[in-house]
Amino acid sequence: MTKDDVSKALEAVIDPELRRSIVELDMVRSIDISPNGVVDVTVSLTTAGCPVRSHFQNSVAESVSALDGVSHVNVYFDVLDDSQKEALARKLGRGGLPEGSLARVGNVWCVGSGKGGVGKSTLTANLAAALSAEGHRAGVLDADVWGYSIPRMYGLGATRPPVSAERKILPHEACGVKVMSIGFFLEEDAAVVWRGPMLHKALAQFLQDVDWGELDHLLIDLPPGTGDVSMTLAQLLPQARFLIVTTPQPAAQKVARRAAEMANKVSLEIAGVIENMSGFTTPTGERYQIFGEGGGQELADELDVPLIGKVPLTIPLREHADSGVPLVIDDPDDPAAQAIARAARGIVAMTPIKLEMLPLANGGPTRSAPTPPSGPTPVGASLPMA
Ligand SMILES: Nc1ncnc2c1ncn2[C@@H]1O[C@H](COP(=O)(O)OP(=O)(O)O)[C@@H](O)[C@H]1O
Ligand SMILES: [Mg+2]
Repeated sequence: MTKDDVSKALEAVIDPELRRSIVELDMVRSIDISPNGVVDVTVSLTTAGCPVRSHFQNSVAESVSALDGVSHVNVYFDVLDDSQKEALARKLGRGGLPEGSLARVGNVWCVGSGKGGVGKSTLTANLAAALSAEGHRAGVLDADVWGYSIPRMYGLGATRPPVSAERKILPHEACGVKVMSIGFFLEEDAAVVWRGPMLHKALAQFLQDVDWGELDHLLIDLPPGTGDVSMTLAQLLPQARFLIVTTPQPAAQKVARRAAEMANKVSLEIAGVIENMSGFTTPTGERYQIFGEGGGQELADELDVPLIGKVPLTIPLREHADSGVPLVIDDPDDPAAQAIARAARGIVAMTPIKLEMLPLANGGPTRSAPTPPSGPTPVGASLPMA
């Protein structure tokens, strides 16, 4: 038995959070083999209080014990130093943001679709407003740097956001939602030309230099299509999850599937599908399936994720998007507003249970009550909706 044999056996030990082998992640610090068959393995953890320590303990002992000639395995731990941590972050493609950026943002949702005009921005603006109305701290980042429309949907003009004493950009606020868009920095309706590196820098800045504060949910309105922005965001925010918006017809579903493939390619988790423009009901009660039927559910089934909303076409949803007051705030009884509010609850239901933090002993600031605990992530089933 050689060190190489032990190293080979250790390839079976997977870091459950990073989902790669500890060998590949360079977390095996040392391997020592005594003539009597005792093997000492030291594993470097990302933090001293690593919650998966016992997993490593068992898994290392188990894989190495299986080798011929091993009489006993001792597992030791140390902690990666800063430069090793940086190397690990680079290896994981997470070198973009300094540690702590967005650390106080609980959940990041990228709202994407294969093409424009399916209602991403309208849904993003209304979902965030609905989340805020239900007591969740919500923010919207308009990452559609070419076709930014979030400012208009919240009735916010092209006013430059103020900068704090700490030199952070303070997002504008509308309906309790913190909002950031390139539109705040440009002349009204100015066209922008972005080149790759500039785009990357602008997005990184929106995440890094904006004082988002504590948020339960940050929704990111993606530009249509796939490409650069998703890639950059995936690099900067590996914890973000994708919500795919589609209209009900098969052709749109196909295009939306490409967005899903993109998300997969950059290893962003797809959390769910929202179908928009699902039918129109006339004032006399006749229902028309203007954009066909069933595409959202089919896509959700195909991706094995829940369909978290079916939002009908209503004239007020369009009117409110144009006039700058989210419909969910102004007329929560509208069928589209109701469907969006339900989808927002579906989003909350997909967030991990948060543990209440213990109040500080010296009576210092305590965190406001977290969102009510919700169940585990639903997989493959649709949430109930009308
Ligand atoms: N369910 C809906 N009912 C009525 N109008 C809608 C609906 N969803 C979106 N719209 C309207 O369709 C247009 C395109 O929506 P938008 O959100 O800008 O799409 P995207 O961001 O995907 O390009 C907007 O005028 C918007 O108000
Ligand atoms: Mg848009």
